Amino acid sequence: MRDVLCVVWPHNEHRPKNFCCASAQDCEFRLKSYRSRFFAGFRQRRRAAALPGAVLAVAVGLAGFMPPADAQGQSPVQATAPRAAQVEDTLAQRLAACTACHGKQGRAGSDGYYPRIAGKPAGYLYNQLVNFREGRRQYPLMIYMVAHQSDAYLREIATYFSDQHPPYAAVQPVLAAPAVLERGRVLVQDGDLAKQVPACIACHGTSLTGVAPSIPGLLGLPRDYVSAQFGAWRTGARQAAAPDCMAQVTQRLSVDDISAVSAWLAAQPIAAGGAPMAAATGKLPLACGSFRQ
Ligand code: HEC
Ligand code: HEC
Repeated sequence: MRDVLCVVWPHNEHRPKNFCCASAQDCEFRLKSYRSRFFAGFRQRRRAAALPGAVLAVAVGLAGFMPPADAQGQSPVQATAPRAAQVEDTLAQRLAACTACHGKQGRAGSDGYYPRIAGKPAGYLYNQLVNFREGRRQYPLMIYMVAHQSDAYLREIATYFSDQHPPYAAVQPVLAAPAVLERGRVLVQDGDLAKQVPACIACHGTSLTGVAPSIPGLLGLPRDYVSAQFGAWRTGARQAAAPDCMAQVTQRLSVDDISAVSAWLAAQPIAAGGAPMAAATGKLPLACGSFRQ
């Protein structure tokens, strides 16, 4: 018998939406289709809001978020999944929607891209949820996920995942030439004076597990995810509060440097249970708007 995963869709803290799915893939598919209908309604409301009579249009648009009801007044999802009605509305249950991609308790997805969110500093997670909401990060499904959420709710979500400490997956062997890995190690631990690249450990912590409240750890992340983040900083698709120190670091790295650090980081075991350091040990080598000192 297959497990049924029941989630309470957290798209709005006041009107959660229940549904059940047969697997993480099924869940992801349902989330995508539900979310695209949700977003179509959102765009409609945006257009309507630009016109007079906006208040009425907003009310109509909100009603339009709900999936179409069938003759019995049940949404199609509920009709095929009667157990949905029994799902308890707790924060953990709502956030099961996130674990369809981010893995159980947020420990990282299995597809080699979805990042671990468990145990990261709460301030960092919160900043990212706000960044997606405000368009400073671009992954569409994440933007759908947090559009309309209040700051207070995003903070609650961030704290929830920050408090989760599931075990890390075993480190997978990384395919890269020894010289590439060595270049990655040097950049991370020593930096590159000629290029004015500070050592990554100067900000991300000596054991690379991050610093509270808002610098993330760099271990246990998929290699592709890490290099994609540098790509996004290069093109400006990812931004953090100014001064954006990671954007500056990225501009100083070549494409080869980026693949070297991504490979080396992915090959490292996680030290000390992965807990972030409580405070920075000294002044950061560059000022970071998302980490005030
Ligand atoms: C459909 C899959 C999917 C779902 C569902 C999903 N996420 Fe994500 N999430 C992603 C992907 C992919 C990224 C990385 C995007 C990128 O490259 O910037 C991400 C990034 C994040 C990040 C930034 C991580 C970091 O280290 O910077 C946070 C925080 C996050 N998600 C939280 C959540 C929360 C909370 C939920 C549930 C409300 C959720 N996600 C649901 C796919 C998903
Ligand atoms: C001056 C301090 C500083 C230095 C040096 C620095 N970082 Fe960062 N890094 C940050 C901050 C702050 C963030 C969080 C930015 C945000 O809020 O989006 C960050 C975020 C990141 C992220 C995103 C993690 C995630 O989960 O999405 C990666 C990857 C990263 N840094 C890699 C590196 C690497 C590799 C180096 C060394 C080449 C480096 N950083 C050097 C401060 C720094």
